[in-house]
Amino acid sequence: MASFEHDARGRPKDKDFGVTSDELASRAFLVEAHCRRPGRTARSLQGCVTTDGLDSYQLLSQHVPLESHVLDLGCGDGPLLNTLVTEGHQPARLMGIDLSRRELMLARAHRLNPVRMLQADCSALPFRRAHFDCVTAHLVMMLLPQPQKTIDEVTRVLKPGGRFLATLGGGPKFCNGQNLLSVFLNVLEAYLKDSGRPSPHLNNRATAPDQISNLFPAQQWSSDWHYSTHYLERQASPFDAWELCTELYEFDLIARSERPILRETFLRMTKLGAHMTGPFAYFVDTLSIQKRVTPSRPAHDIPA
Ligand SMILES: C[S@@+](CC[C@H](N)C(=O)[O-])C[C@H]1O[C@@H](n2cnc3c(N)ncnc32)[C@H](O)[C@@H]1O
Repeated sequence: MASFEHDARGRPKDKDFGVTSDELASRAFLVEAHCRRPGRTARSLQGCVTTDGLDSYQLLSQHVPLESHVLDLGCGDGPLLNTLVTEGHQPARLMGIDLSRRELMLARAHRLNPVRMLQADCSALPFRRAHFDCVTAHLVMMLLPQPQKTIDEVTRVLKPGGRFLATLGGGPKFCNGQNLLSVFLNVLEAYLKDSGRPSPHLNNRATAPDQISNLFPAQQWSSDWHYSTHYLERQASPFDAWELCTELYEFDLIARSERPILRETFLRMTKLGAHMTGPFAYFVDTLSIQKRVTPSRPAHDIPA
């Protein structure tokens, strides 16, 4: 696996060193998608809460200790940072990074100015080693073509005993008992096949918590990691459901002129009355893992 070279302060020397063409394609796809529709993730989750009334950002933020120095990877337009500020974290102790300049501009427009935010790639973090107490990543890890690189960087910038908290998920799931995402993807797939368009560079990503947690080197990370699955729900009509699907990256592949017809197809396939509302749900997984205070010795170093 390629690794990054670091300067004397522990920062990557060349952000494109060892970057594969798959990563470049994925990066370009995501930057464009977030440039076209900044704030799309927060919009698609709007109003979706657990039975305890917690949204996806609050589910993660409740595990971030107060007073900790926090780095939010792929902060987007800043909803998690905003939640942390609302919950009493000092803005000066918070830092966000994102690939997308448009998302960061929107975050600043959301009065997140006291929080520092940088345009950077989470696989080459511009910070010295052991700088943060906690690193968060809300709906980011499953988008990375090589999550191992980011985990290596998180291992470097986290202090000993620091914590990594991530939310993983894969778009809206159910509406009135139907798998809405698969209806949407079926409509899209038929369209792409007919129009000969390429699929997005987001396939085959690690979305399950154990796929991600297995990437943490055991010498530096505690084996006592936790994950939990949460069901987030709001009431939505089929029209709302379509609007929410339009926030998915895949929607951008549909030509503007084709959108009305695909919307009709989607509404017909969901077989719901236009004025009916029903539960519209997401499933998200939250993962929490702690960096060891002292690295453990590899098994082959321990005398028998
Ligand atoms: C699904 S959005 C989540 C945004 C925000 N965390 C939220 O949940 O609202 C993914 C974000 O990760 C950013 N991103 C994707 N790959 C990245 C990378 N390699 N480095 C930094 N940011 C990245 C995207 O620009 C986007 O803002």
